[in-house]
Amino acid sequence: MSNRRNFLKKAGSTALFTSLGSSFFISCDNTEEIIDPDNNTVSENGFTLDGSTYTIELDHPNFSILKSSGGWYRFDEGGMLLVNVGQDIIRAFSNSCPHQGCRTSWKYSNENFTCTCHNAVFTNLGEKVSGPANSDMESYTVSRDENIITVST
Ligand code: FES
Repeated sequence: MSNRRNFLKKAGSTALFTSLGSSFFISCDNTEEIIDPDNNTVSENGFTLDGSTYTIELDHPNFSILKSSGGWYRFDEGGMLLVNVGQDIIRAFSNSCPHQGCRTSWKYSNENFTCTCHNAVFTNLGEKVSGPANSDMESYTVSRDENIITVST
């Protein structure tokens, strides 16, 4: 079946689709899917939570940047920062800064995280480099199976 026919079949007669960059969002009655440019189907949000464990789909547009070395994502819904540190290794940290708990002022460059609330700097291992924090970042255990990662918080 051609990709176009497959797409239309999945979309159904009541589908609404909108271009989101290079991806498509599809709403079919009670189900929602996203089909990435490689035609892989992922869930609407790209993650699920079971207890304290997140399962994250790297094919989802929100998380696909994590497939690339140096790519990082502030995953607010999960309260964490995710980063690809190379060699297909992804690390996860609490997005609560060890200094005073800022969660949304993170930058990542030169393999370091910086919390711009008061300029605390940490390595991509979560170790304090400089600034006012008195401890390292809280890290989470990550396992990876191709383009699915699980993060235990
Ligand atoms: Fe992050 Fe102060 S809260 S540096």
